[in-house]
This record gives sequence, structure tokens and C-alpha cells, in this order.
Amino acid sequence: MIQCVACSLKGIMWREILVTALFCLRYGEGGFPYIVPSVGQIWPQPQHITTEQTYMVVRPNSFSFTLNGYDCVTLQDALKRYTDIMFNSSNEYQIKKVDPWTKTQYFSGYLDTVHVNLLKPCEHMPYLGMDEQYSLKIDTPDDPGKGTLISESIWGMLRGLESFSQLLIPDGSAYTINSTQITDYPRFRHRGLLIDSARHYLPKSKLLETVDLLGMNKFNVLHWHIVDDQSFPFVSTQFPNLSGKGAYSQERLYDAQDIADVVEYARNRGVRVVVEFDTPGHTRSWGPGQDGLLTTCYSDGKPDGNYGPIDPTNDDNYDFLTLLFTEITSHFPDHYVHLGGDEVSFDCWESNPTITQYMKDHNITGDYGKLEEVYVSKLLQLISNLPTKNGYIVWQEVFDNGVAIANDTVVHVWKGGWQDEMANVTKAGYETILSSCWYLDHITYGTDWKTYYGCEPFSFNGTQTQNNLLVGGEACIWGEYVDKANLIPRVWPRASAVAEKLWSSMEQTQDVNSAAPRIEEFRCKLLSRGFMVDSLGPSFCPGDNL
Ligand SMILES: *[C@@H]1O[C@H](CO)[C@@H](O)[C@H](O)[C@H]1NC(C)=O
Ligand SMILES: *[C@@H]1O[C@H](CO)[C@@H](O)[C@H](O)[C@H]1NC(C)=O
Ligand SMILES: *[C@@H]1O[C@H](CO)[C@@H](O)[C@H](O)[C@H]1NC(C)=O
Ligand SMILES: *[C@@H]1O[C@H](CO)[C@@H](O)[C@H](O)[C@H]1NC(C)=O
Ligand SMILES: *[C@@H]1O[C@H](CO)[C@@H](O)[C@H](O)[C@H]1NC(C)=O
Ligand SMILES: *[C@@H]1O[C@H](CO)[C@@H](O)[C@H](O)[C@H]1NC(C)=O
Ligand SMILES: *[C@@H]1O[C@H](CO)[C@@H](O)[C@H](O)[C@H]1NC(C)=O
Repeated sequence: MIQCVACSLKGIMWREILVTALFCLRYGEGGFPYIVPSVGQIWPQPQHITTEQTYMVVRPNSFSFTLNGYDCVTLQDALKRYTDIMFNSSNEYQIKKVDPWTKTQYFSGYLDTVHVNLLKPCEHMPYLGMDEQYSLKIDTPDDPGKGTLISESIWGMLRGLESFSQLLIPDGSAYTINSTQITDYPRFRHRGLLIDSARHYLPKSKLLETVDLLGMNKFNVLHWHIVDDQSFPFVSTQFPNLSGKGAYSQERLYDAQDIADVVEYARNRGVRVVVEFDTPGHTRSWGPGQDGLLTTCYSDGKPDGNYGPIDPTNDDNYDFLTLLFTEITSHFPDHYVHLGGDEVSFDCWESNPTITQYMKDHNITGDYGKLEEVYVSKLLQLISNLPTKNGYIVWQEVFDNGVAIANDTVVHVWKGGWQDEMANVTKAGYETILSSCWYLDHITYGTDWKTYYGCEPFSFNGTQTQNNLLVGGEACIWGEYVDKANLIPRVWPRASAVAEKLWSSMEQTQDVNSAAPRIEEFRCKLLSRGFMVDSLGPSFCPGDNL
């Protein structure tokens, strides 16, 4: 009932009507409901948190972090970054309070430092299964008047700093922070957002802004669907014609430096960049830059000028893919690469006489799923033979079409009927990632974040062993109707609902009504940090100077 206290502190001008279910949903004079943001809550909710009514006061000019444990540049950067975020002088989100902070019975002193105690040396790159646990103590009974942030890993430190920054409640020229004890860690290892830079080019500044928001939401994966039918903005030095002929324009490109910048920015925020080069379908933009790559489609016995998926019968294509993926994996250091494999249309393959002959020779006449398998198994083989020995993620169709895949393949579930699919995938022993219920590009009128929040990844019929194969999920923002103009407001804070679902425990994420005031508060914080995040419904940010 914490939020109720917050509610009754404010909005005295409004007629209060008791609403039992939505205890923070209130009605204005006209009888219309709106949501009152909570105060000093953390999004996504920590696994274990206790808060007292006592509080300490943080004064920007007297506060600094104290380093006790291991140190590294990533940590230094983060401390500086969070100091800026917390004490933004141009911060508009200020709650004015009449009483001085020290004059209440709950005042517990000034908090002038937080001891940052990193117990193990920093790791350089984030990875699947990295340790993100941390604990935070502010004025606890065993350490009164003190602040301590402890983690065994730099990644946990980053999560803890975010939580600490969210606990600060702006109050005139300073901030208050309640006496708090937190032990926190994620529910799932893989918590991502898919972006699509092929349907619309997304400038680097928007990618970095997205990464900032991922970190603040404790997401840890940027799934970068970088190329598709419409455009090929990735600059390959081996095959410059791919972007030379396949990009929307020669300004709309990602070269090695751009990619390195995004990867480094993400690394600093504990976010992995998992790139997707989707094949054999979704590759029309690859065609002009690489002769013989795509299947020539036929009508009435003649090439009709159209092209289909990558031609699996042309052996040169596998040499090309080996070289291309060698280059790709040298730019994207994550162990995993997403190989796509969705929505392979068989029409063009069916029309092509060379392919028909090949299938006859291989005794697979008419079985286009088998032809796809020929392609996919060669692709997976060549990926696992790369010097970088990458792991791979594929869309569910690869599994559905019965392609023989290595036992360490991660199957990405995106279609409807996902509970059934996930039961099948995990029963077959594969690791899996869920996206079906988190397609943010499917927009509707109303508060759709509640639908995302209501999607429980474990609601499929599986044993404990099967559940353990669910590594996490991804929200997806496909780019057909999304570019730099609307990327940020369309994704945020809707994706934040998914962020909490994937970070906090199952028990903590059952009640959408108690989440509502907290996600409103989080949205207000993101706004105050300068992100143009969208509205979730009638509400207002208290202290917003307009
Ligand atoms: C934080 O402290 C204030 C002031 O004592 C109190 O009103 C509020 O309920 C506390 N918040 C929480 C979450 O305990
Ligand atoms: C790129 O395309 C041009 C024709 O537009 C061709 O002359 C050149 O050989 C191609 N380069 C590569 C590396 O394939
Ligand atoms: C195809 O089937 C024929 C007859 O069953 C067999 O002789 C031939 O070896 C098979 N070819 C392949 C590539 O499996
Ligand atoms: C996966 O396959 C490899 C060899 O192909 C084998 O060594 C490994 O034990 C298998 N793992 C599982 C979990 O079945
Ligand atoms: C799951 O497997 C069962 C049994 O093989 C099959 O009948 C069902 O269609 C599969 N479900 C999905 C969504 O593929
Ligand atoms: C759940 O899975 C088990 C084992 O695979 C099966 O026996 C049972 O019928 C399934 N239950 C439902 C409701 O599908
Ligand atoms: C400070 O606040 C302004 C205005 O809200 C915002 O544009 C800026 O990005 C913020 N800076 C930081 C470091 O959060």
C-alpha cells in the first residue's frame, strides 16, 4: 500500500474516491480516472527490497561515490554517468516541499557517500549468463547512516547504480532516499529488444539513445536486425557491393566504426549486441551486390526478373557466406549471432528448373522443407567452423520445418500459439527465447503495456527441465512504420513492461494495477532524463515544470 501513501500526499485538490482494485487510480472533479505516479519506486522491481519510513538527505554538492573494491574504466564511466543523471541541474522533475528535510521525525541524517564495493575484477564484455546480482544498503540497521553498493561483477554494479539513482526523490535543492535494503538479480538471462534498421535506416544517435534506455530498464541485449529485403546498410570491406548496391543510399550505412561505437556504448551499459543477418529469405537487398546469390524466379519457363531466397544449390554461395560471416563476427564480438531463417517462401524455388533438377538428384523432389534444411545445416556448420566458434539463434520456422539443427541452437519463438510451440521446442531439448506476445510494432488504441505485462513466459506445459531451457525474451519493434522520428516514443515505455516481466520474479509481476503507478513514475524519470517517451494514459508528472 506504499503507493497509497504517495497518493494521499498529493492531489489534495481532487475528490478522492476509493477504488478497491486500482488503489492508485483516482477520479478528478469530472469523474474521469487517471493514474498517480508512485514516489521513489524502482522499475523493474528488485527481487528483494525492504523500505523504511526513515530517510536520508542527499545533497548534490556534498555527495560522491567512494570506491572500495576493484576498479576499472567501465566503473569510473558509470559513476560519472550516474552522478550526471542523478543531479542533472537542468532537471525539471522537482518536487517542492514546504518543510525542510531535517524537521521530520524520520530524518536519519545526510548521505554524503555510497561505498561502491566491487568484489571481483571487471569483465570486459557482457555475455549470456553474466552475473548481474548486486545488493544495496542505505541506512540499514546493521549499518546505520551509511550507503553501500556491493556486487561480485561490474554488470551487477551497473544494475545497482541504476536502482540507486531511481531511489532518489527530488526535493527542492536536494534529494531524499528512504532507508532501504535490496538484494537483486534477474529472473531471466536474456532480456532483449529487437530493432530493425533495414525497413528504415536508424541513425547512430538513435541506436545509442536506445542503448541508454535499455540499460535504464535493465535489459541486456540489443538484437540488431541490421539488413533485410529493403536495404543492406552494413558495409562489408570484402563485399562492398552489398551496401554499395543494396543500401537505401550511401549516407545510410553502418561502417566498422559505427558498429564499434554502438558495441562499445552498449558494453559500457552491460548490454550485448546480437546482430541478425537473416537468410535464406528476407535477402532481396543482398542480390544486386552479389551475382548468383539469390534464386532466379521463373514464369512460363523463363526468368521473370524476380529473385527469391538464397540459392541453396550454388556452392559458391557457401564460400561467400563463410567470408561474410567471418567479417561480421569480427565486428560483433558477442558469442551469439542470429541467423534468422523465418518466412522462407518456396514459390521461387518451385519455379526454378535448376533447383527442381537438384532436388530430383538428391531424392527430395517436392520437399522444400528438406531443401531449406540443406541450406540451414550448411550455414550452421560454417558458422560453427568460424575461428570465433559462434553460437547461433534461429527463428522458430527452422525448428518447425524439421531442419536438423545442432543441440546448442537457440530457437526464437515469435508466432501465435507460442505455448504449444515452446513446449515442443523445449521438449526437443533446445534453448528458447520468447517474443510472440511482445511485438511492439503491432499498435492498438489503449494501454497495451498491460497486455505485454500479462504475458507469462512459463505459461506453457513444460517440466522444470523444459522451463530451464527458456533463457528469456525480447520485445520487437519491426521497422516498417518506425524510423528516427518515432522509434523512442513508440518503444518506450511500452518495452518497460517487458523489462520488468523479464527481470522481476513471477510473483512480483502478477498485478498490473499495482504496476501502473510505478511504470508512470518510471516514465516521468525517463522524461526528466531527456527521453521523449510516450504517454501510457491520463496522468501527470508531479514537479514537472512544464
Ligand atoms: C519513505 O519515507 C517517507 C517519509 O518518511 C514515507 O512517507 C514513505 O512512506 C517512505 N516510503 C517507503 C516506500 O517506505
Ligand atoms: C562491384 O560491382 C561492379 C559493377 O558495378 C563490378 O565491376 C565490381 O567487380 C564489383 N566488385 C566486387 C568486389 O565484386
Ligand atoms: C536416390 O534414390 C536412388 C534410388 O532409390 C538411389 O539409387 C540413389 O543413391 C539416391 N540418391 C541420393 C543422392 O540419395
Ligand atoms: C550436444 O552435442 C555435442 C556433440 O554434437 C555433445 O558433445 C553434447 O553433449 C550435446 N549436448 C547436449 C546437451 O545434448
Ligand atoms: C507440437 O507438437 C505436436 C506433436 O508433434 C504437434 O501436433 C503440434 O502441431 C506442435 N505444435 C506447434 C505449435 O507446432
Ligand atoms: C503436458 O505435457 C505432458 C508431458 O509432455 C503431457 O502428458 C500432458 O498431457 C500435457 N498437458 C497438457 C494440458 O497439454
Ligand atoms: C538533464 O535534463 C535535460 C532536460 O530534461 C535532458 O535533456 C538531459 O539529457 C539531462 N541530462 C542527463 C545527463 O540526464
